[in-house]
Amino acid sequence: MSNRPRVLVARAIFPEVLERLRSHFDISYNENDDEWSPEELRQRLQGHVGALTTGSQRIDAALLQACPQLRVVANMAVGYNNFDVPAMTAAGVIGTNTPDVLTETTADFGFALLLAAARRMAESEHFLRAGQWNRWAYDMFAGQDVHGSTLGILGMGRIGQGIARRGAHGFGMRVIYHNRSRLDAATEAECKAAYVSKEELLRQADHLVLVLPYTPQNHHAIGAAELALMKPTATLVNIARGGIVDDAALAQALRDKRIAAAGLDVFEGEPKVHPDLLTVPNVVLTPHIASATRATRLAMANLAADNLIAFLTQGKPLTPVNTPEQLRAAT
Ligand code: 8YV
Repeated sequence: MSNRPRVLVARAIFPEVLERLRSHFDISYNENDDEWSPEELRQRLQGHVGALTTGSQRIDAALLQACPQLRVVANMAVGYNNFDVPAMTAAGVIGTNTPDVLTETTADFGFALLLAAARRMAESEHFLRAGQWNRWAYDMFAGQDVHGSTLGILGMGRIGQGIARRGAHGFGMRVIYHNRSRLDAATEAECKAAYVSKEELLRQADHLVLVLPYTPQNHHAIGAAELALMKPTATLVNIARGGIVDDAALAQALRDKRIAAAGLDVFEGEPKVHPDLLTVPNVVLTPHIASATRATRLAMANLAADNLIAFLTQGKPLTPVNTPEQLRAAT
């Protein structure tokens, strides 16, 4: 056995990234891209100091206790709600994510979902494919304008700002946002975005895009009460995380035409999708692909690998979610 660090790659990744990792570490690899149970992940992690994960592997206190040799987990995602960060910090384990490299790609996709939902693209495409298009009508698939309308953004981090810029500069939209903390004046000016309360955001937005991280406090941040405040002509887009929207309440609001349309890339309990969402026509559904361009997924995998290399060879993670200083203070 070599004395190189042992690293588990928990899902299939690009062969070239795997080769880079192999040049530094002894790699165990999920070649078949199986979905491991928490118990199987625990077993596979035995003896490994590092892991490359995606959003579907939960790193919690029970796993950390069973894997005392673990030192770093690099998530191939910007979101890291699969990490119990306080438990990782207490166990002396660094977590890293992949910010920045996916911002513009994900903002593009959020905008695409907004356009598709507001202009009824999926619904009308299904109609055409079903052979139902045999005449023109003045109100056929008449949707809502995007240009010149009011764009609301809940969660104004990097991706939210990317969507704001697209709306303000590309589509002449009035941009309003709500966030835990208000942006500095220069960023607000660059995004042409005005800060409002969550209630004002819900009431005023013609199109509302959700880009906030999932936390227990954000669970069902959009439920029946919030949907009731929205305009009946409004569009809702969720590219954040399942669980932020109450999917059952949203399906009901769409069915009742409480709001006009929705575009969803993330779902509660995905890859399962609430059955009611599958039967309402005015929703565009995509399988969590907002960051999925080849270039961006490659950049995400490379950044996760770079984090493992930087931490395990020099003790300096590139994009940590908890810092070596926090670990020292906690242990
Ligand atoms: C990932 C994402 O594809 O980065 C994120 O937070 O949601 C997506 O880009 C997904 O989480 C798999 O790791």
